[in-house]
Amino acid sequence: MIKQINMSLSSIKTITVIGSGLMGHGIAQVSSMAGYEVILRDIEQSFLDKAIARIKWSLDKLIEKKKLNQSEADAILKRINPVVDLETSLKNSDLIIEAVPEDMNLKKKLFSEVQKFSKPDAILASNTSTLPITEMSSYTNNPSHFIGIHFFNPPQLMKLVEVIPGGDTSVLITELILDFVKSLGKEPILCRKDVAGFIVNRIFIPLVHEAIYFRERENLTLEEVDSATRHKMGLPMGIFELADYTGIDVVHKATIEMHSRDDRVINPHPNIKKMYDNHLLGQKSGEGFYKYGQENYHRISLSEKDSDKVDIIKLIAVAINNACWLLSNNVCTKEELEKALLLGMGFKQELFKTGESYGFNNIYKILQQLTEQYGRFYQPDKLLNDL
Ligand code: 3HC
Repeated sequence: MIKQINMSLSSIKTITVIGSGLMGHGIAQVSSMAGYEVILRDIEQSFLDKAIARIKWSLDKLIEKKKLNQSEADAILKRINPVVDLETSLKNSDLIIEAVPEDMNLKKKLFSEVQKFSKPDAILASNTSTLPITEMSSYTNNPSHFIGIHFFNPPQLMKLVEVIPGGDTSVLITELILDFVKSLGKEPILCRKDVAGFIVNRIFIPLVHEAIYFRERENLTLEEVDSATRHKMGLPMGIFELADYTGIDVVHKATIEMHSRDDRVINPHPNIKKMYDNHLLGQKSGEGFYKYGQENYHRISLSEKDSDKVDIIKLIAVAINNACWLLSNNVCTKEELEKALLLGMGFKQELFKTGESYGFNNIYKILQQLTEQYGRFYQPDKLLNDL
């Protein structure tokens, strides 16, 4: 058994981020911005070069917006050390955060390697969007030192970090990681149960599939649905725009995982798998629901007028139903849920306030109709009865 005594935030000085993609490079950047020494590890130098270029772009943006000056940005970059060799990347690290693709076998293999080279009391963490933390921790020698630290894209701008203890994570490590997240200037929300999709993805990923069904059933265009999710549901991006921005590969893998853990969580639309198989991965591959250029950050222009003819209650109903499930299962409180949606997805208005404005009675009826037509995924949660 590894000793846990005397561990406090000051015991974290060096952080290794494994995987330098969309999330990994951002996690490395925010950790360095908070003053930590960071090692960014990937399997090929070219991946690391791309990640460093992205970090430089982001730092330049922050300078442009007067959030940093040039010498601060230079120091941030200097604290990030890109490394290919796994052993070198781990030997001095106090906290190791993996951000590799969402494949349990890949993660299992990685953690068995990580343990060979990491310090015995190092904290191991996963930025998984939905894989079970308890199962992942069982592949390590010390599950009490294993935890989920789930950032949101882009980590540089999104304030939320979900902290997910597994069944064996020690209370001390959970508290330490909550403090660590605060030290990054982020807001941690404790996800009290290791459920599929945690808090935010439990709302977000099913909503992407539902938006495709909604578009087909109501005969709407991409832009109409996107404009309505922005202007009537309070999202900062259209739901299809957001799926492209997140990556269709991420959405697809999260879908498979969530569905395999609990088939009531999500009603997968086959188009997501088709897009994934055809390498239509969104912004990162140049095409997803929309087509993109080479820019680092691309927004879809959506006119508010496009939302005029869209009655979005059916989409709101699905989001509210999943939110109710989280509350009835004590995964988080209502306040935590609203905070998570505000800080993790940029919701401009509280989901339950939106629900209230459409009437919970109407939402309940819509869900009952959808259940009759399309099956038990839509079955209203028991909490909706009370509302
Ligand atoms: N670093 C620094 N600056 C950045 C940046 C980065 N990584 N990415 C974008 N920016 C800049 C842009 O270039 C732009 O600069 P400009 O004004 O010079 O053009 C500025 O930030 C943002 O401008 P916008 O007008 O687009 O501003 P918004 O007010 O819409 O904010 C946003 C952008 C914060 C991304 C907002 O649209 C948002 O919150 N979108 C939703 C994102 C979201 O939901 N993320 C979570 C997805 S789920 C997830 O990640 C979990 C995973 O497990 C699946």
